[in-house]
Amino acid sequence: EKGTYPHFMLKEIDEQPFVIRKIIQEYKNENDEIKLDLDIRQAMKNCDRIYIIAAGTSYHAGLLGKQFIEKLANIPVEVHVASEFSYNMPLLSEKPLFLFISQSGETADSRSVLVQIKELGHPALTLTNVPGSTLSREANYTMHLHAGPEIAVASTKAYTAQMAVLAILAVDTARAKGLELEFDPMQELGIAANAMEALTDQKEELEELAREYLPTTRNCFFIGRSVDHYVGLEGSLKLKEISYIQAEGFAGGELKHGTIALIEDGTPVIALATQENVNYSIRGNVQEVEARGANSLIISMKGLDKEGDAFVIPYVHHLLTPLVSVIPLQLISYYAALHRDCDVDKPRNLAKSVTVE
Ligand code: F6R
Repeated sequence: EKGTYPHFMLKEIDEQPFVIRKIIQEYKNENDEIKLDLDIRQAMKNCDRIYIIAAGTSYHAGLLGKQFIEKLANIPVEVHVASEFSYNMPLLSEKPLFLFISQSGETADSRSVLVQIKELGHPALTLTNVPGSTLSREANYTMHLHAGPEIAVASTKAYTAQMAVLAILAVDTARAKGLELEFDPMQELGIAANAMEALTDQKEELEELAREYLPTTRNCFFIGRSVDHYVGLEGSLKLKEISYIQAEGFAGGELKHGTIALIEDGTPVIALATQENVNYSIRGNVQEVEARGANSLIISMKGLDKEGDAFVIPYVHHLLTPLVSVIPLQLISYYAALHRDCDVDKPRNLAKSVTVE
C-alpha cells in the first residue's frame, strides 16, 4: 500500500535508509560480527574469480559490487549483462563463482545463464529481494536483500540494498581470507543510512532543480569518473525510463572522444563529484562542456564541494558514496517525470520483471 504517498516510487525512495538499517540488523550476529551462511563464506573464499550476471539497474549495482569485492577482498570480478553472456561467454577461470543479482529473481536473461553454467557444474550465489524466486531456488546459495516489496517499475530501494549487501559480502570474504581492513561496513553503512535520510528530506530543493534544468529538454547527460560514472549510468536509466528524456551516462574522460559533439547551448549535464582522487579532473570536464554551452548541474560531496555546486550530499566513506549520491538522481528523475505528467510507477513499454529473453 502506498499510504499517503502519491506514488510507490516516492515511497520506495523514502524507505531506503530504513532498508539499509534493516540489512545491518539482518547481517549482524549478537557479537556484532557479520552473520553469513558458512557455505557462502567458503564458496567466496574458494573461488579464483567472480562473474557477476545481471540486467538493468541490477547490472549497475554489479559494477559497484566489482569495486567492493576487488578492493576489499582482492578477488578479480567480471560484470556481465545477462542477455549478452549466453552466446558470448568469456573464457572462464579454473574456479569461477557466479553471482546473480536480481531484485525479482525472475529475469529470464539471467535465468538462462544460470541454466547454462549449472550444466558446466559451476556454483552460483543469487542476491535477490524474493527468496523463493526461480533464481534463488535454482542457485546453490541465496542472500536476501530485505528491501521489502518493490512495486514501482523503476528500481530504487533494491539498487541501494544490492550495494549494501555486496559491501557486507566483500568485507566478510576479506576477513575470511585473513585480510586486514580498516573499513567497518556496519558502521559506515549506518552513516550512509543517516545521510540518505537527510537527503529524502530535501525533496523541495530537488524538485526545484528538476524544474530548472529539465523542463523541456529532449536530452540530458550524466558524467562522472570512477564510481561516479556507474552511478551516472543508473541516474540516466532512471531518468529515461520514467520521464522519456533521452539520457546517457558517460565517463568524464571519455566525453572528448566523441560525445562532446552532442553538447549544445543549454544541454543539461549532471556531473557527480564525490571522489577525492578524481575531483580535479571531473571539474575540468564540467568546464569543457560549459565552454560548449552546457547547462551543468554539479552534485558533490561535503568536503569536496565548491562554490556554485547545485547540490551537496553529506560526507560518507568513499566506497559508499553511490548509496547516497543516487538519491538526488532518483528524486530529480521522479520530479522530471511528474512535471511531464508521465505515469511514474508504470512507464510505457515496461514490465516490472522481464520474464522473456
Ligand atoms: C530499472 C529496472 C530494470 C531492472 C532489470 C533487472 O529501473 O527496474 O532495469 O533492474 O529488469 O531486473 P531484476 O533485478 O528483477 O533482475
